[in-house]
Amino acid sequence: MSRSAHPAGPRHADVLSEGHYAAPPADLNSLDPKVWAQTVTRDADGVVTVGGVPVTRLAEEFGTPAYVLDEADFRARARAWRTAFGQDADVFYAGKAFLSRAVVRWLAEEGLNLDVCSGTELATALSAGMPADRIAFHGNNKSAAEIERAVGAGVGRIVLDSFQEIVRVAHIAQSLGRRQRVQIRITVGVEAHTHEFIATAHEDQKFGIPLAGGQAAEAVRRALKLDGLELIGIHSHIGSQIFDMSGFEVAAHRVVGLLREIRDEHGVELPEIDLGGGLGIAYTSDDDPREPHEIAKALSEIVTRECEAARLRTPRISVEPGRAIVGPTAFTLYEVGTIKPLEGLRTYVSVDGGMSDNIRTALYDAEYSVALVSRTSDAEPLLVRVVGKHCESGDIVVKDAFLPADLAPGDLIAVPATGAYCRSMASNYNHALRPPVLAVRDGAARVVVRRETEDDLLRLDVG
Ligand code: LLP
Repeated sequence: MSRSAHPAGPRHADVLSEGHYAAPPADLNSLDPKVWAQTVTRDADGVVTVGGVPVTRLAEEFGTPAYVLDEADFRARARAWRTAFGQDADVFYAGKAFLSRAVVRWLAEEGLNLDVCSGTELATALSAGMPADRIAFHGNNKSAAEIERAVGAGVGRIVLDSFQEIVRVAHIAQSLGRRQRVQIRITVGVEAHTHEFIATAHEDQKFGIPLAGGQAAEAVRRALKLDGLELIGIHSHIGSQIFDMSGFEVAAHRVVGLLREIRDEHGVELPEIDLGGGLGIAYTSDDDPREPHEIAKALSEIVTRECEAARLRTPRISVEPGRAIVGPTAFTLYEVGTIKPLEGLRTYVSVDGGMSDNIRTALYDAEYSVALVSRTSDAEPLLVRVVGKHCESGDIVVKDAFLPADLAPGDLIAVPATGAYCRSMASNYNHALRPPVLAVRDGAARVVVRRETEDDLLRLDVG
């Protein structure tokens, strides 16, 4: 049976009960600017280009799968965050979303700071020339060696995550003859994801020191007593892929409440608060993220209002967006290998990557979009599930989407908004070689993280 015998007719709605798309988009060739990097467009031949480079050229020159990063878009988004928050606030890009030396250089040039959460992320940042005093070091179980390295390098702040760490960092700083600037990460009892937030008892997690039961206040008491530490502020991170600002509102209210307690008890007004990251992006056309200037305005108004009510000087605000900067700036380019139509169900389209380059669909049930990018097509929409080549049936890249029914092996398809938490969470499952990251700009493409080779893997396997 030919593939075109499986059009996206009404019966497809039945199998989409848990899926994303209720109906095929009006034009399968159009590329929604909400989910695609800024310079993505189609050329006169219908081939998608990014940074002026056709994807067919990228595939030919660098192979697939590949992450393709739009440098101009990355810089523009970084700059938009920097500008929106202005000189009285700091933007720390969360390196966990995606970190490479090229990205560190772009961030340094665009005036952003950097949040790292391991000694190796720190090493990457330092090796690319990010000034240490613009780096924040996070983590719930930093090793003594990592702390020594961070203090020794002179990082701008270490975010203390536990009672043990307060003592550890103080001790290490003192032994190195330093006074380390620190924040204390607290859990404020707010958890926010996508459009929802819950403000009850979300202290039940490994990160941070609970505000509840006076624990955060006790942590502050201890930190203020230690000579090796300079306590500069309180940190709160409430979740991921957040669209609704009300979770931040509650968090800010509670953080400022603690600042007030600290002022009342110790006579000290801490100069900074960090509200973490977690701002959402569009993975599909249904998502409506806010612009950085709206977020900056909302956060600054919330904090100012809360501080006025508490009669506190408004502290310097910092934020840590990762996904919101890098997420939309990259797509993953795949080649279609096999196509398996299942009458009355859907069509499985297998690509040359999968859960090893994007674990988010399998892990979080994440939704993605997909498009045919090596050509246009007037064929009818076909309901597909884009899957990888791994030995696992949960190896799904895009759960439900529409592609043209004349899709064929050898076509290139691309999944947009894969800049965050895809390369950084990539694995070698089935000894997959992790794809390269290609940066494109002004008609030129370059490899910023090269593709792994068989030799790379075999070198680790010492027999
Ligand atoms: N700051 C702190 C303290 C964080 O824990 C995180 C993320 C961020 C900032 C950055 O959050 P973003 O703006 O990128 O959402 N692997 C998951 C996301 C885990 C986020 C962990 N912490 C995913 O793929 O959705």
